[in-house]
Amino acid sequence: MKKEKIILTGDRPTGKLHIGHYVGSLKRRVELQNSGAYDKTFIFIADAQALTDNIDNPEKVRQNVIEVALDYLACGLDPEKSTIFIQSQIPELCELTFYYMDLVTVSRLQRNPTVKTEIQMRNFEASIPVGFFTYPISQAADITAFRATIVPVGEDQKPMLEQTNEIVRRFNHIYGETLVEPEILLPEKTACCRLPGTDGKAKMSKSLGNCIYLSDTADEVRQKIMSMYTDPGHIHVQDPGKVEGNTVFTYLDAFCLPEHFSRYLPEYPSLEELKAHYQRGGLGDMKVKKFLNAILQEELEPIRKRRKEFEKDIPSIYKMLQEGCMKARETAAKTLDDVRRAMKINYFEDQALIEEQARRYRGE
Ligand code: TRP
Repeated sequence: MKKEKIILTGDRPTGKLHIGHYVGSLKRRVELQNSGAYDKTFIFIADAQALTDNIDNPEKVRQNVIEVALDYLACGLDPEKSTIFIQSQIPELCELTFYYMDLVTVSRLQRNPTVKTEIQMRNFEASIPVGFFTYPISQAADITAFRATIVPVGEDQKPMLEQTNEIVRRFNHIYGETLVEPEILLPEKTACCRLPGTDGKAKMSKSLGNCIYLSDTADEVRQKIMSMYTDPGHIHVQDPGKVEGNTVFTYLDAFCLPEHFSRYLPEYPSLEELKAHYQRGGLGDMKVKKFLNAILQEELEPIRKRRKEFEKDIPSIYKMLQEGCMKARETAAKTLDDVRRAMKINYFEDQALIEEQARRYRGE
């Protein structure tokens, strides 16, 4: 049988999705979904994972499930083409996680770079919740349950996929060829891998208030761009400016296409020329920000409009999610069956085992 090409990815529902999510993975998934080159696409809202570090704030997770679903639909994820579902509604994932736990050592988890930084970020050093500590294992369950071959995610998820592949190899080595090794799909442009916050800080984060959300109004987007971090040494228009670490240029690296120049800034032939002028001096921040604003508005306007349409019928979105969960469960249950069989814990479907034990006890 030809190996199926299956896409799977998800997001934690801890807030609305922002343009970092968009360039990091969301935009790509929609393209992949529409390319027709994949057999199946699974997109899920990782509420159970979000709870691993929000255990005392279930309401936040609950409220944001619909926000993420709206952002998905607004970006063009289509339930006709992709199965969109909620992680916690697939109990098979918990069972897979439980078995995979036997294949991973504590020290291996401690070495996982993503877990390491997240523990620091959350001041968990003194007391790490076990569920949080082991979430890379549950992520391996998410991926393998659907036999995903391609996982489009941001660069920060690389250690998660490495860990998943180790689990798959170990499982297949011990129990026989059962699980599929996934491949990570990173954004093509490096600027898209980790879009900084509007304040120039390394990551967009709700708590830092430095995000541009997909659902922001046109005015909010413009205001956020106008107050964006640039080069603090670039005070007068004539001053030479830096483009490295200059958030406006990083965003242009992520979003700007050649056609944007003819549309919005015809006096420059390319981003390289614009950067060169900024570095020489004589190009003001405001002009570059206005250019970025034109580009972002063009990209976000249709998303915002579609979101408004979907917001009119919230019950039907929950229904779509519920149907997605049912479909997803069927697939996960099949994988779980295979796993149980491979691990020899499928007693009641194994007639040969029952007869063999019976013969043994009859002394045959
Ligand atoms: N860890 C991912 C994030 O923080 C979310 C996630 C959970 C995920 N399970 C996954 C992503 C499986 C891809 C595949 O965004």
